[in-house]
Amino acid sequence: MRRHCCAAAAGFASVASAASLADVCTVSNVQASLPANGTLLGINMLPSTVSATAVYNASLGMGGMGASSNSGVTYNYCNVSLSMTHTGKGDIVSIMLAFPEPSNFKNRWYLAGGGGFSLSSDATGGLAYGAASGATSAGYDAFNYSYDEKVLYGNGSINWDATYAFAYVALGELTKIGKPITQAFYGMNDSKIYTYFEGCSDGGREGMSQVQQWGQEYDGVVAGAPAFRFAQQQVLHVYPATVETVMDYFPVPCALDKIVNATITACDPLDGRTDGVISRTDLCKLNFNLSTLIGESYACAAKTSSSLGFGFSKRQMGGAQGSQTSSQPAQNGTLTAEDIAVAQSVYDGLHTSDGKRAYLSWQIGSDLGDADTTYNNNTGHWELNIPSTGGEYVTKFIQLLDIDNLPNLDNVTYDTLVAWMNVGMFRYLDSLQTTVPDLTPFQSSGGKLLHYHGESDPSIPAASSVHYWQSVRSVMYPEATDEAAEKALSDWYQFYLIPGAAHCGANSLQPGPYPQDNMDTIINWVENGVKPSRLNATVSTGDFSGEVQQLCQWPTRPLWSRNSSTFDCVSDTASIESWTYTFDAFKVPVY
Ligand SMILES: *[C@@H]1O[C@H](CO)[C@@H](O)[C@H](O)[C@H]1NC(C)=O
Ligand SMILES: *[C@@H]1O[C@H](CO)[C@@H](O)[C@H](O)[C@H]1NC(C)=O
Ligand SMILES: *[C@@H]1O[C@H](CO)[C@@H](O)[C@H](O)[C@H]1NC(C)=O
Ligand SMILES: *[C@@H]1O[C@H](CO)[C@@H](O)[C@H](O)[C@H]1NC(C)=O
Ligand SMILES: *[C@@H]1O[C@H](CO)[C@@H](O)[C@H](O)[C@H]1NC(C)=O
Ligand SMILES: *[C@@H]1O[C@H](CO)[C@@H](O)[C@H](O)[C@H]1NC(C)=O
Ligand SMILES: *[C@@H]1O[C@H](CO)[C@@H](O)[C@H](O)[C@H]1NC(C)=O
Ligand SMILES: *[C@@H]1O[C@H](CO)[C@@H](O)[C@H](O)[C@H]1NC(C)=O
Ligand SMILES: *[C@@H]1O[C@H](CO)[C@@H](O)[C@H](O)[C@H]1NC(C)=O
Ligand SMILES: *[C@@H]1O[C@H](CO)[C@@H](O)[C@H](O)[C@H]1NC(C)=O
Ligand SMILES: *[C@@H]1O[C@H](CO)[C@@H](O)[C@H](O)[C@H]1NC(C)=O
Ligand SMILES: *[C@@H]1O[C@H](CO)[C@@H](O)[C@H](O)[C@H]1NC(C)=O
Repeated sequence: MRRHCCAAAAGFASVASAASLADVCTVSNVQASLPANGTLLGINMLPSTVSATAVYNASLGMGGMGASSNSGVTYNYCNVSLSMTHTGKGDIVSIMLAFPEPSNFKNRWYLAGGGGFSLSSDATGGLAYGAASGATSAGYDAFNYSYDEKVLYGNGSINWDATYAFAYVALGELTKIGKPITQAFYGMNDSKIYTYFEGCSDGGREGMSQVQQWGQEYDGVVAGAPAFRFAQQQVLHVYPATVETVMDYFPVPCALDKIVNATITACDPLDGRTDGVISRTDLCKLNFNLSTLIGESYACAAKTSSSLGFGFSKRQMGGAQGSQTSSQPAQNGTLTAEDIAVAQSVYDGLHTSDGKRAYLSWQIGSDLGDADTTYNNNTGHWELNIPSTGGEYVTKFIQLLDIDNLPNLDNVTYDTLVAWMNVGMFRYLDSLQTTVPDLTPFQSSGGKLLHYHGESDPSIPAASSVHYWQSVRSVMYPEATDEAAEKALSDWYQFYLIPGAAHCGANSLQPGPYPQDNMDTIINWVENGVKPSRLNATVSTGDFSGEVQQLCQWPTRPLWSRNSSTFDCVSDTASIESWTYTFDAFKVPVY
């Protein structure tokens, strides 16, 4: 039985690697490579929509968030566009594919994740790895719009097709069709095509969505700082502003910056080396009391800054519209008990009014950007600032109002935030939440997962990743001792905290290491069976610039011996307990 639609598909079979780009990059070769209608249930390809053009000497920009930069190198590839439709639905999904020239093709398929509310719209991310790759309109014109612009048809009316497409379906289908097209395009017959996903932030969530929902399709996934547990994560962005509202105290940003800087200075040595980096935020949490900072002085110069915010949606990337510009006057003073109380509550995390824990928080020493207030030039006061990251989630996804942010936090209490989290968790439990902890299909088909998170991430708490790792461990290995479960898990799922790192990148406040070769590591694991046990990461600024650190695999933790240039990876029960949470504010398990 023929897998593909046309006999012509066999044309390049025996000469794939000898063929030139011009030989294979033709409309007829692509058309002949499309899976026949009926082969992939529910997906019909539209051969008449195929375009194919060879592109020579292309220099590429950055891939998606978390993807490696490949500046300076140029590529020859086949630029393909085509469309598909879902059986009986009458929709159109536009797809872009990029095929490396045959001599550079290494039997790989690769997808890059996006960020914010956007899927990646760049199909060329695989070229650096000798992989064919793709991008999809997801059926909601994702090349031109971010999903938050599409989640509502109007007030009260959710676009569920777009929601599921963004959550996991569009990327899974892209891989499902991309693999057989690639195999036929190069005449690979049925030989193995290694399949990878790489992303950070929402791209990390997208990677986890593929592991959870399309596990048997992927051989290797690299997921950084995933924006999963979506309801809790997005509402968390409103938590610091709620703390200030409840306390009716709006700290000057310079005071918060001072608290972060002074915490870094105080906690840096606790890991055994004074290098500007808190490699052990757990020791900081257990041993440092923020109250000791009361009375310290701070001073900041006036500044004007603009920020894209978390949304960094298409409209924001496209121009100034939507980006936020803020002016701050010079600030100075001394830290007050109220300043410390705000920071302490933010780091403690959200609890209900009767003291039940609802969510985890950023690690102590992480930047407190979501707590930043805004300066009112007319009154001379610092006032409430609601980060649109969280505010827009509440208005559009919870309240179902087509507005970009909450106008205020009037009458909003901690219990209100918990109620919003509850609504969001159940409404989007099988779409955006992305916390399915049973990864059996991925694991049993041989998949490998490399998961990392900056320990001082000020946007998505590092503890969010730890909690998911713990959920997978206990759901997949319910009978095993922790030690046995961790050993079994590390055969296919490894998690690394990156000391001092921020959200999907190095931290300007802590000159720590950052891993650069995650794709090389996962490819070596998948294709050569080289299982990592540490993760190489390079320091790029500060006194230790150039140093390669071999990061500890969770749940071990780094500890320097005095004057040593390397750290040991130690087991520390008290530290691990400081990362372990039960969310008893919710009546159902939160994975
Ligand atoms: C694919 O199959 C054809 C026909 O059986 C064969 O001639 C060709 O060598 C195969 N190609 C590869 C890359 O194995
Ligand atoms: C697959 O089905 C679509 C309609 O759903 C049709 O337009 C297309 O031509 C079909 N493809 C082939 C190869 O027959
Ligand atoms: C690509 O670059 C190479 C090396 O610089 C050059 O020889 C070749 O002509 C270029 N090809 C095209 C299509 O520009
Ligand atoms: C690739 O093809 C698409 C669709 O035809 C086109 O819009 C795009 O400009 C092409 N990219 C390059 C680099 O030629
Ligand atoms: C969306 O973007 C794609 C690729 O950039 C373009 O070809 C298409 O025309 C755009 N669609 C709309 C409706 O603007
Ligand atoms: C905090 O530290 C950063 C980087 O070291 C510095 O630029 C900033 O001015 C400091 N802020 C305060 C308030 O101390
Ligand atoms: C920190 O110190 C203050 C003042 O001495 C004390 O009231 C508070 O309980 C301490 N906090 C912790 C977590 O130990
Ligand atoms: C603090 O601010 C006041 C008023 O703006 C200014 O007069 C003073 O010089 C500042 N002090 C420092 C240490 O920057
Ligand atoms: C705030 O007021 C000062 C002086 O009154 C003025 O120079 C400055 O431009 C104002 N800034 C903004 C953002 O309006
Ligand atoms: C949607 O609701 C918002 C908030 O109530 C309101 O401002 C807006 O006018 C409504 N939009 C439409 C189209 O009715
Ligand atoms: C806040 O609560 C008060 C008292 O229940 C009520 O009068 C007011 O309308 C509420 N405000 C908003 C914005 O809901
Ligand atoms: C990691 O770094 C060590 C020391 O620099 C080096 O020997 C090793 O080859 C590196 N491993 C990988 C996978 O790059």
